[in-house]
Amino acid sequence: MPFQDTLPDNPRGINGPLSGAMWADRSMRQETADEEEQQYPDMKYLGQGNEGLVYEYNGQVIKYTDNRTEVVAAKKVWNYAQSGNPIACMVPVLEKPVKIQAPSIMERALNSEPNYDPSVRSMWRIVTEKVETFDTEDVLILNELSKVFTEEIEFGDYDDPVRAAELSPMFEQMINCLQANGFRIHDAHGANIGMKDGRMVLIDLGGSL
Ligand SMILES: Nc1ncnc2c1ncn2[C@@H]1O[C@H](COP(=O)(O)OP(=O)(O)O)[C@@H](O)[C@H]1O
Ligand SMILES: [Mg+2]
Repeated sequence: MPFQDTLPDNPRGINGPLSGAMWADRSMRQETADEEEQQYPDMKYLGQGNEGLVYEYNGQVIKYTDNRTEVVAAKKVWNYAQSGNPIACMVPVLEKPVKIQAPSIMERALNSEPNYDPSVRSMWRIVTEKVETFDTEDVLILNELSKVFTEEIEFGDYDDPVRAAELSPMFEQMINCLQANGFRIHDAHGANIGMKDGRMVLIDLGGSL
């Protein structure tokens, strides 16, 4: 992965905290990482979830992913914006998503072996706008709201009901917009949401289709 030495923990550590980074490290060839470092020399590690590896570059966010669904979703967001109808509840996608590597026939054959530890996979680069994210307390509230809206629970258990009441209408507006545009809402938890121009937007497109 790009700039491996600058990541906050040893990404190769077993069960280490950087699961998305570990995944990206296994999936990305060294030469791909080298090319990305050359193209984006100032990028800095920003974060990761379970899958993706995310960097910041000039106020933009670069995400490396091997999740095809996420790429399809990002292309949809990109296409809508290109046609002059940006989706207001999605983080703006700033470039057409690019496939940065594809596995060789041999690598693909190995990947389909039952007991083979997966190696190089197809990988894409998705560039989005960097938006404000939420602090830990807000993330917990948003996680509760998310469960209420996906009907996993009937009432949220909020430490700060006043703040929950503030966030709820913005969250509901985002949910309605996502559904109106054919996106799924089950992955709209606190760490996958940001704020843009006073509205909540989904920043992680991985589970949106
Ligand atoms: N556009 C963005 N603006 C600001 N922060 C972002 C953005 N995209 C991702 N992040 C940060 O990186 C983290 C991981 O990104 P995410 O897309 O959720 O990866 P994963 O698919 O691995 O969950 C997010 O929780 C958030 O903190
Ligand atoms: Mg995420």
